[in-house]
Formats: sequence, C-alpha cells, structure tokens
Amino acid sequence: MLHRDVAGLHVHEAGEGRPIVLLHAFPVDSELYEDQLAGTFAGWRVIAPDLPGFGKSPLGEVASLDDHARAVLGVLDSERIERCVLGGCSMGGYVAFAMLRKAASRFDGLVLVDTRMGPDNDEGRRGREETARRALEEGTAGLIEEMLPRLLGPRTLSARPEVVSRVRKMSERATKEGAAAALRAMAARPDSRATLEAFARPALVVVGAEDPITGPAEAEAMCSVLQSSSLRIVEGAGHLPSIETPAELNAALAEFLSAL
Ligand code: MLT
Repeated sequence: MLHRDVAGLHVHEAGEGRPIVLLHAFPVDSELYEDQLAGTFAGWRVIAPDLPGFGKSPLGEVASLDDHARAVLGVLDSERIERCVLGGCSMGGYVAFAMLRKAASRFDGLVLVDTRMGPDNDEGRRGREETARRALEEGTAGLIEEMLPRLLGPRTLSARPEVVSRVRKMSERATKEGAAAALRAMAARPDSRATLEAFARPALVVVGAEDPITGPAEAEAMCSVLQSSSLRIVEGAGHLPSIETPAELNAALAEFLSAL
C-alpha cells in the first residue's frame, strides 16, 4: 500500500489498473478502506484520500462539500486520471454527489455505501451547528463517544472490540476544525435526487442492515431514482460495512467492478 500527498490531500492507494476512488465517512478517514486497499480487486487501482481536515490531510480553506469535491477532483487531475469509478460512504457519498454535479462524465460507475440523497431538515441543521460549536469549544471527544454507538452495528459493538477501537482511533485523528467544517458543510448540502436521476452509468448501492443513520430505506430510495442500480443489504453491518463486514462488501464490489 502506498501513502503519499497528492494535490494537498493525503492519499492511500493500492493495486494497478482502472482507478476507483473511495471517499470516507464522517468523522473517520481513509483507513476506513484498509480492507478494500488490501489488493483484492485484480485490474483495479484503489485510491482513498483523507478528505480535508481528516486523517493526515490539512483543512486548508475548505468550507463546503463543493470545496471537498474540488479537492478530490484536484487529486484526479494531478494524477492525470480522466475517468474512474467513484465511491463514497455516508459523508463520502455527499462529496461524491458534489463531484457528479461538477464532472459526471468522468465517472464510469458509482458506489454508494450507507448514504442518503436528501438534505438535512431544519432540526438536523440546528443539531449539526450545535455539535460543530461544541467541537470547536471542547474538542471532538464528546462527539466521538456519542457517534460510536451509531456508527457501528450492535454485533460489531458487542463482539468486535478491535473494529470499535480502529473507528475510535480514526475519529480521534480528525481535527476539531475539520470536524466542525464538515458538519457545517453537510448541513448546507443540497438535495441530490436530481443528480442521481441524471446519472446514466451503473451504480452499486450498499447498506448495512443495522444502520441507524442511513438505513435500508434510504438505500432503496436512491435505487428508485438511479437509472441503473443494484442494491446489497449487508446483514451484520451498521453504518460502516467496509470495516464491519469487509468480505461481504468486497464481494459486492468485485462483482460490480467486473461488470463495468
Ligand atoms: C457520516 O457517517 O459520514 C455521517 O454520519 C453522515 C451524516 O451525519 O449525515
């Protein structure tokens, strides 16, 4: 596995061939995809950046999800990647939607993991602003302890302490400024329904059956508007199947990529 800085972002990558870019959820980082970076997809180059303010990527001037999208497109430009498959988990999905709005023709396929196309309601926006303010004043420890039980499914929480500890470590690497900026950016995100309706290439939609944040109903809603999609509901996973049930996610990904 290669770790390097590209166009202002820290990137993990592995494998050779057609590129697939995987964007992580909030408040973790690209280590979320360690099991996908383990070289399981023959003929594919897996690229997982730390989004601005997470992992080892500096926040810089980034404030909106459009800024996040521009940062990732900057990595593609710098690597001279004209076209790729684009994937994102939760917040990573929101960034992927922003990238589609800027450059849909660059993406041959879409992988959406535990994410949703709708915007926040007023209550959700207020909650995010409150959490952002608290993170800036007190640090991210409280946010992490509140989020952990919602990020992971009950089976992971009770039987896989090593996964819980990996997710906690990743979350602790997020800076408070990065977390607050991402919360405010997510609160301001637009409805992405029309973006998904317009996407004409194949999409794989994956969701953990035990996800309390963006569960199967959200995944089904995205499939109902996408032109070409397949849905995988993963038993035993919560919000982060790439780390909770990597074998199942990798099997679904391998099947999807082999048909592209
Ligand atoms: C995430 O996992 O990226 C966040 O839970 C997404 C959200 O809060 O909407």
